[in-house]
Amino acid sequence: MRVLFATSEAYPLIKTGGLADVSGALPKALNNLAEFDGDIKILLPGYQAVLEKLRDVSPVATIEVLGQTCTLLMGKMPDSDTDVIAIQNTQLYERNGGPYSDKHGVEWLDNALRFGVLSRAASLLCSKHSPLQSWQPDLIQCNDWQTALAPAYMKLIDFSSTKSILSLHNLAFQGNFDVSWLKALELPIENFQISGFEYHGQISFLKAGLFYADKLSTVSPTYAHEIQTETFGFGLQGLLQIRKDDLTGILNGIDAEEWSPEKDSSLIKNYSASDLSGKAAVKKALQEQLGLHVDADAPLLGVVSRLTHQKGLDLLPKIMPQLIAQGCQFAILGSGDKALEASFNDLAQKTPAQVSMTIGYNEHLSHNIMAGCDMFVMPSRFEPCGLNQLYGLAYGTPPIVNATGGLADSVCDTNETTLNNDTATGFVMKSVSSASLLVTIEHALTIWKNKALWQRIQRNGMQQDIGWGSSAKAYLKLYEKTLSGH
Ligand code: ADP
Ligand code: GLC
Repeated sequence: MRVLFATSEAYPLIKTGGLADVSGALPKALNNLAEFDGDIKILLPGYQAVLEKLRDVSPVATIEVLGQTCTLLMGKMPDSDTDVIAIQNTQLYERNGGPYSDKHGVEWLDNALRFGVLSRAASLLCSKHSPLQSWQPDLIQCNDWQTALAPAYMKLIDFSSTKSILSLHNLAFQGNFDVSWLKALELPIENFQISGFEYHGQISFLKAGLFYADKLSTVSPTYAHEIQTETFGFGLQGLLQIRKDDLTGILNGIDAEEWSPEKDSSLIKNYSASDLSGKAAVKKALQEQLGLHVDADAPLLGVVSRLTHQKGLDLLPKIMPQLIAQGCQFAILGSGDKALEASFNDLAQKTPAQVSMTIGYNEHLSHNIMAGCDMFVMPSRFEPCGLNQLYGLAYGTPPIVNATGGLADSVCDTNETTLNNDTATGFVMKSVSSASLLVTIEHALTIWKNKALWQRIQRNGMQQDIGWGSSAKAYLKLYEKTLSGH
């Protein structure tokens, strides 16, 4: 089975969020699966960081897509033997800034072309005109809007026999562009209609994928249901309802080589479910590093997140003064919404011994917050899967979450029943509000004071099987189903 895994980011080459974690880990997990008798290659743009980090690189072909001349580079992931094909085009991808926006956060104006080229190249590799004749994929897995135009090119232009899956990591990002891009994207005008890639008068990459891909998947079973409703469907719920028999929800896993308290090289001390003592050392070091009052008895709450409406962290500043008065400390890392950054900064300036706010992206600090904190706060309004709550479970840092998407599928609320049968792993809000978040955190604080009970919750989470193994098997099943046409 030959699989082309098309994505716009993959850890450790390039990362802005969870998509990169999944794109780095899932192909690796499939390669490690005894049942997977196949060959999976990642296709992504040759951003500067990708070109710097790829191993054993060599040019394998030159292609001309959407009027752009690109070199296909074949290489390997820095940390595994997974094959990578990078599309090199200096003008399109080697820019001073992120994959989607410049260094001030302004989206690149030609994203339609940049990801049109990625999608068009993916389709070409799945066609009889592919320059890699000896490697014709049986299946392509596309991820999010950046690669979602590939199934449209495959059906409308290349008449490809390769089967396609579109995996939805976040319906809030759709890649909708002005119709004036039609020509540059070389899309047939007759398919610019409701039964095609048209969406409210625009070209929609995501809608194209939802319409033309053979199968659809998303990153948790609950999100698969939620997106068929008006509240979570971002306008695409109608099409998703029509395609519901082709839609599967598979919960993400975590890459245990990157995220395990027993092996994590970012931590000053490692620890495990059977010996949690190292966690106290990490907490102490984190408090020192962040300028917080060093106190083992002060509950330390962590946040690592994009600061956007999705993540619900605007619910937090309002209730922090009350929690600070109760002795809580906060270690916050993230960036995004400027007003929210400022609220957290304000609190950090007023009470530096109890609140630390780090604006930016910091892989090392994110691991230390995950390990050194007592609890992890993630009150997302919607969350397709979420990886941070999974990291929280693995690191004995029980997550405090809202009951949505992958959060609902991975965190079991603490109550008398779940404490008694050892299934409690975290704390789940009853509704999305500051009041509900406060009640939930206060519940967690009460239990935290009972060390024996708290350790049971920590161990329940740490002992859960949340690696990629079973999710990779579920993807393999989906691949087989897609190939058999059922
Ligand atoms: P999303 O992809 O919606 O942002 P996820 O929980 O699926 O949410 O994944 C987020 C990933 O990005 C996690 O690996 C998390 O640790 C990481 N991350 C988010 N913000 C930061 C940050 N400021 N610094 C370091 N890592 C971050
Ligand atoms: C998106 C979602 C997040 C998910 C990640 C990886 O970024 O917001 O919930 O975990 O993709 O699938």
